[in-house]
Amino acid sequence: MYRIIYRSIETAPLTHSMLKKLLDKSRRRNIEQEISGILIYHRGVFLQLLEGDADAVKDIFRLIERDRRHKQVTTLLAADKPGGRVFGQWPMGFAEGDDAAAIISGVEDLPAGLSTPQLDRVGAIKILIEAAKLAA
Ligand SMILES: Cc1cc2nc3c(=O)[nH]c(=O)nc-3n(C[C@H](O)[C@H](O)[C@H](O)COP(=O)(O)O)c2cc1C
Repeated sequence: MYRIIYRSIETAPLTHSMLKKLLDKSRRRNIEQEISGILIYHRGVFLQLLEGDADAVKDIFRLIERDRRHKQVTTLLAADKPGGRVFGQWPMGFAEGDDAAAIISGVEDLPAGLSTPQLDRVGAIKILIEAAKLAA
């Protein structure tokens, strides 16, 4: 199972309907490509995990990296590891606003949310796992 975790910053504020459009399209393509994962959006910062076949994940990530709706796409993890999916039930789980705030505040030492400079791989994984408990 290949996984990528990255963090990025929105280029311009995204409205709820813009986010919904982004998610609908992402979910459709992820189902086609058998990619699962989760996306958290909080105060203009994205944190996303993608998992699936290595070629499929790398191809989608190449598209995502070029997407002008966000910038400063920073990879926190890109690795192949044996084992099954962690986010198998979601073509792309999503948390934003209050949900995202609750998830982030559940993780210690991250007062500034996702934008904190010390958000590393371990912190990101903790947040993503908390998000998995709430995502629908
Ligand atoms: C934060 C963020 C996360 C995204 N996640 C996904 C994703 O999981 N799957 C996907 O297919 N596209 C995702 N996208 C959208 C792709 O970047 C976009 O579909 C791709 O650039 C092609 O878009 P187009 O078909 O509208 O030209 C994401 C975009 C952003 C900004």
